[in-house]
Amino acid sequence: MPAPTDRYNGVSQALHWLIALLAFALLAMGKLFDVDADDANGIFGWHTALGLSVLILMVVRTGWRLTHLVPPPAPGPDWQQQVAQLTHVAFYGLLFLLPLTGWLLTSAEGDPVSLFGLPVPALPVGEDGEDFLEETHEILGNVLMLLAALHVAAGLKHHFIDRDGVLRRMLPG
Ligand code: HEM
Ligand code: HEM
Repeated sequence: MPAPTDRYNGVSQALHWLIALLAFALLAMGKLFDVDADDANGIFGWHTALGLSVLILMVVRTGWRLTHLVPPPAPGPDWQQQVAQLTHVAFYGLLFLLPLTGWLLTSAEGDPVSLFGLPVPALPVGEDGEDFLEETHEILGNVLMLLAALHVAAGLKHHFIDRDGVLRRMLPG
């Protein structure tokens, strides 16, 4: 019987690549610059606005993912399929938790955040939470970086070594 679908649909692909690009940019901003409301480098405004955009896009992506067909697991041994599935689920969790802890952190710090000019309300959290939230946001960012490295390496291995068309399932055409 043919598989119900052999590739990710266009919306899934667009969201995958847009969110991946934003995630890399956000990680780079966090690691290479000071994300500080008092710093005049402008990074704080970009990091918070793009980070909140990820949160909104992830709501759309999750809704889409739950209501549309996806291809069967990529070819490979069981353990690889399980690691891939766990990684994908972890990405969904991380891409909600990172913006949420970031938003909570700016709220605890009392720093105003806006989404490209639109003021974003602060979340109800006290100053006491600041250290914990800062630490959590950093750890989640490190986990995202590690998993992204694994995920990209796996994608490139499928494409260049196994040559099994897995990368093409996430590409148009
Ligand atoms: C997917 C979304 C996000 C990613 C991947 C991300 C990633 C990061 C990373 C890697 C750092 C540097 C942590 C370190 O190593 O010290 C950072 C710092 C920071 N992020 Fe995010 N972030 C995201 C969303 C947000 C959002 C939505 C906000 C606020 C609305 C935010 C606010 C901050 C702040 C205030 C800092 C500086 C923390 C400090 O004082 O050390 N982030 N972020
Ligand atoms: C931080 C950046 C990235 C994140 C968060 C991410 C996240 C994900 C997620 C969650 C999935 C599962 C599909 C879904 O259910 O939505 C997926 C699939 C996929 N990603 Fe990424 N991705 C990133 C970057 C990349 C890059 C740079 C590549 C290129 C090598 C890539 C290649 C793929 C491929 C080929 C699939 C399909 C796997 C399959 O068919 O089983 N991803 N990605």
